[in-house]
Amino acid sequence: RRAAEIAGRLLEWYGRHGRDLPWRRTRDPYHIWVSEVMLQQTRVETVIPYYERWMAQFPTLEALAGAPEEQVLKAWEGLGYYSRARNLHQAAREVVSRYGGSVPDDPEAVSRLKGVGPYTAGAILSIAFNRPVPAVDGNVLRVIARLYAIADDIALPATRKVITELVRAMMPAGRSADFNQALMDLGATICTPRSPRCLLCPVREACEGFRAGRVGGLPVKGKA
Ligand code: ADE
Repeated sequence: RRAAEIAGRLLEWYGRHGRDLPWRRTRDPYHIWVSEVMLQQTRVETVIPYYERWMAQFPTLEALAGAPEEQVLKAWEGLGYYSRARNLHQAAREVVSRYGGSVPDDPEAVSRLKGVGPYTAGAILSIAFNRPVPAVDGNVLRVIARLYAIADDIALPATRKVITELVRAMMPAGRSADFNQALMDLGATICTPRSPRCLLCPVREACEGFRAGRVGGLPVKGKA
């Protein structure tokens, strides 16, 4: 099945069923960055009130950079994994001193920021800057492993690389932000780990895993 057709169906579905989340009402790279760091290890419903309070307290990157660390950690209280807040704070100061307060839109520079791994870099570059960079998290690994019936262990870097390249190849020109978030939402609401709702899936007809009756057994993870 042609990747362009699959991508088109995903975008069409996202337009109708994509979730209305606070960080989707902005393109501000600082806002996107904060949301993605919060979402790294915390569920969407938990993140929403933290994100809203954070933006009220630190409305700009400069405000965050200028805040004392104890205030930043206090605002993070309850989200856990506090190194995320420390790294974000440090990286905000770095963006102010090095880039004049504007989040860089270049992959190398973004990836060098503290706490920004390949997933978060892809999310910032695609969602805030609409650059054609995959943002492959656990949801996306699962969706693509099922769609292409990939039975290799998704914990392996080689498998992640294959999946990342499949996403890159299907990414529709000029639609990177929506496309990556469509994959995330499909994974979060339809192509769920257990009891996926294949009958509601916009790409069921193209799904190799569904065709082969193997959705339940995919993805394969850490069996080694
Ligand atoms: N999880 C991580 N990033 C997300 C985003 N931008 N939208 C929804 N879920 C996410």
